This record gives sequence, C-alpha cells and structure tokens, in this order.
Amino acid sequence: MLRIILLGPPGAGKGTQASRISEKYNIPHISTGDIFRKNVKEETALGLKVKEYMNKGSLVPDDLTIQLIEDRLSADDCKNGFLLDGFPRTVYQAEQFDKYLSERNLSIDHVLDIDVKKEELLTRLIGRRVCRNCGATYHVINMPPEKEGVCDVCGGELYQRADDTEATVENRIEVYLAQTKPLIDYYEKSGVISHIDGATGLENVFNDIVDVLGA
Ligand code: AP5
Ligand code: MG
Ligand code: ZN
Repeated sequence: MLRIILLGPPGAGKGTQASRISEKYNIPHISTGDIFRKNVKEETALGLKVKEYMNKGSLVPDDLTIQLIEDRLSADDCKNGFLLDGFPRTVYQAEQFDKYLSERNLSIDHVLDIDVKKEELLTRLIGRRVCRNCGATYHVINMPPEKEGVCDVCGGELYQRADDTEATVENRIEVYLAQTKPLIDYYEKSGVISHIDGATGLENVFNDIVDVLGA
C-alpha cells in the first residue's frame, strides 16, 4: 500500500517517472493535467471551463481541481494506494486534501520532490512530444522515437502540447515558483518529503526513487 505525491516544476519528469512507478508498485497514476487535457479534447463541460487556464499556463481554479481529485480517488482502483502527479499544486489544495485524507483515516506515505533547474526545464518542454493515442512521452533530442513523429509503443501520431510554447512555459515556471514551490515547506513539516535530483538521467532518477520507496 503506497500513497504518493509527485512534486516538481513543469518538465521535471513527473509524468515520465510516474509511468514507471505506477507499473512497478502497481498503483494508479493520477495526473490532473492528463485528466484535464482529456476533457479539453472531448469538449466536455469541464474541458470548456479549464481550456483557457491551461493554454495560458495558469492554474485551474482550486474548487474544480479538488472536486476532480475527490471523484477520482473514490474509484475502486485507489483502494490500495495511488500516485498523484500534479496535485496538490497550491497550499489551499494541500490543506483541503489533508482534510479529505484525515476524515478517512488515510495519510500520505511519500512526497517526492523532483527538481531540475530552469534552463533544462525550458529545453525539455519545448522539445517534448506526446503520443496522441497512448500518451507516451518523447523528446526530440533526449528521447527521440525511432521514426520521427511516430510513437514507438503504438504507432500513434506524436504532437506538441498546446502549453509547450516558449512563452507559456515561462509562465508555467513562474506559476510553479509562486504557487506550488511553497508546498515543499508545507510537506517538510510533516516529514514525508524526499528530494530527488531530476537531472541525472532517466534510469538514475528512477533508481533514486526506488531507493526511497523500497524495492
Ligand atoms: P501538467 O500536465 O501537470 O503539467 P506540468 O506540471 O506543467 O508538468 P509537465 O507535464 O509539463 O511535466 P512533467 O514533470 O510531467 O515532465 P515529463 O515527464 O513530461 O499540468 C498542465 C496544466 O493543467 C497546468 O498548467 C494547469 O493549468 C492544469 N493543472 C494540472 N493540475 C492542476 C492542479 N492541481 N491545480 C490547478 N491546475 C492544474 O518530461 C518533460 C520532458 O522531459 C519530456 O520530453 C521527457 O521526455 C523529458 N525528460 C523527462 N525526464 C528526463 C530526464 N531525466 N532526462 C532528460 N529528459 C527527461
Ligand atoms: Mg506531466
Ligand atoms: Zn503511443
């Protein structure tokens, strides 16, 4: 049983590592960003509400985000743990989430804070490509697919996220520093946080995470 929060700036590698953690520890990977993007693509009522915020690189309002997470965590597959990627992202979200957990006698086992410096984040995000079909993530230089524009896993088309333009990436990093980074102190107080250097290469980052979580 593991309940994990992944913290870190845009491009730190949360999604990349989350896929591996989810597979190794057999817990669902819950990315608020992925769920919002799916809703935008399908033009649901929620998607229409969040699209503007996401395209600007601003945060979606807390109430929508908290509701989304509470609904998702009530599903059966979360009974034996979960891996949150991109939530909480404000101190208010973290406080509300703590309330939610304590009302259910639950607690978080690990907060993994993956850190990478700003110049590297820009390069990573501007070069990121994602599979439209299965969500696999690539990088045009660091992790290119075998055939340009085509997913190695499923043959799907690779695309660039709407918020991966230079101006929007700058804003996302600003938003992270102002609104999300304070969560490091917040979780430092509860003693569950571990700091992971996210710039050491995919395998090393994963090994450092496994060292924290246990093999
Ligand atoms: P979200 O989808 O969560 O985006 P993000 O936090 O900006 O993070 P990213 O997905 O961009 O980065 P990542 O850390 O997952 O990196 P990745 O593994 O892909 O959120 C998007 C938007 O949704 C927000 O802006 C907001 O509007 C909204 N939202 C979501 N949650 C919210 C919330 N709780 N409250 C309010 N609003 C919310 O890797 C990046 C690239 O680097 C890839 O190309 C990858 O191949 C490469 N890479 C990864 N690891 C390495 C490595 N070790 N070495 C070299 N390259 C690497
Ligand atoms: Mg991600
Ligand atoms: Zn694919």
